[in-house]
Amino acid sequence: MKTIMITGGAGFIGSHVVRLFVNKYPEYHIINLDKLTYAGNLANLKDIENRPNYTFVKADICDFDTMLQLMKEHHVDGIIHLAAESHVDRSIKDPFTFARTNVMGTLSLLQAAKIYWESLPETYEGKRFYHISTDEVYGALALTRPEGDADGRGPYGEDFFTEDKKYMPHSPYSAAKAASDHFVRAYHDTYGMPTIVTNCSNNYGPYQFPEKLIPLFINNIRHRRPLPVYGKGENVRDWLYVEDHARAIDLIFHQGKVAETYNIGGFNEWKNIDIVKTLIRTVDRILGRPEGADDDLITYVTDRQGHDLRYAIDSTKLQRELGWEPSLQFEEGIEKTVRWYLDNQEWMDNVTSGDYQKYYEEMYAKR
Ligand code: NAD
Ligand code: TYD
Repeated sequence: MKTIMITGGAGFIGSHVVRLFVNKYPEYHIINLDKLTYAGNLANLKDIENRPNYTFVKADICDFDTMLQLMKEHHVDGIIHLAAESHVDRSIKDPFTFARTNVMGTLSLLQAAKIYWESLPETYEGKRFYHISTDEVYGALALTRPEGDADGRGPYGEDFFTEDKKYMPHSPYSAAKAASDHFVRAYHDTYGMPTIVTNCSNNYGPYQFPEKLIPLFINNIRHRRPLPVYGKGENVRDWLYVEDHARAIDLIFHQGKVAETYNIGGFNEWKNIDIVKTLIRTVDRILGRPEGADDDLITYVTDRQGHDLRYAIDSTKLQRELGWEPSLQFEEGIEKTVRWYLDNQEWMDNVTSGDYQKYYEEMYAKR
């Protein structure tokens, strides 16, 4: 019996990781530790909330005493750390919250794990601290092939983020994630903690909070609201379906080498404006609206400050060493994603109305 603590499990990616582990490993005890900020939503896990191998704990990763107590109480063997403030635009407005959660919160978890694991006779044997990070820590790449291929797919340049690329974060979000990555590696190098770090590209799929490009725009198209495209819409992002990220996390948690870094991504670069056009076409087709009916929703707005031009992950190491590869083509992934948001309007309404806050307060009161 293994006990695995997944932090941030009520968020977008975390909920997919929790679901995968609870379903796939009935012999594990999965603890979902989440503060339930605006981005955390227990409705994301309704289908598994009553499973015998699942426990939800509402707590703040910055609360060191509680982290230590929980690790002792539950005999935690492994930690998969996803809890973070995750939205670049929010980090530009409120950098302190990002430093607090992403840096101090990660440090508090690391220190609690160190004290607990070093108190055991076997110390770090069979233990693992797996930190989930982002490709944004590497900074931004140049856009040297502006046209991409005939379908509008990248690569949009010759340069990629490899694991040995220098860290050059630009936003308060990516700076805070970079700092947390450094702390995780320092705990390996200084104390011998068995750590792993992965850096993944932009994720998309069900249960993403609608402040991020894809769910925000699907919802706006549905309601015929303006689509605020930053700058000229020429920034490039590398998109991965969230379940493919969750599968990579499972594989790396079990088979990844301690102290290693793995990049995760599907070589799937798109310009924002092409994604927006694809979303309009897909939503309109599914809702039976005439082609082109919603093209005029595109509204070019003032660019994001410090807006990174291009992200592109090279995941060759993960593919070669652990045999991972993405299961979905982007076209299929976008179709599934658009259908999910259109079919789950109630989830969207709850999230955007704030009613989901009440839902999880009630849920928590019951436990
Ligand atoms: P999210 O914002 O959807 O979810 C974050 C979760 O963390 C929420 O459930 C929130 O309640 C919880 N949380 C926040 N502060 C907390 C605290 N102090 N204590 C405990 N819980 C707290 O984020 P996401 O998009 O699912 O991202 C998860 C992780 O993956 C983050 O570390 C992020 O940096 C990383 N990542 C995200 C992407 C992406 O495209 N979304 C890509 C690569 C890496
Ligand atoms: P986002 O989903 O916020 O992810 P990230 O900033 O972590 O890449 O944004 C994806 C891209 O879409 C990014 O280049 C910014 C752009 N964007 C818009 O043009 N308009 C929007 O309203 C949002 C939220 C994002």
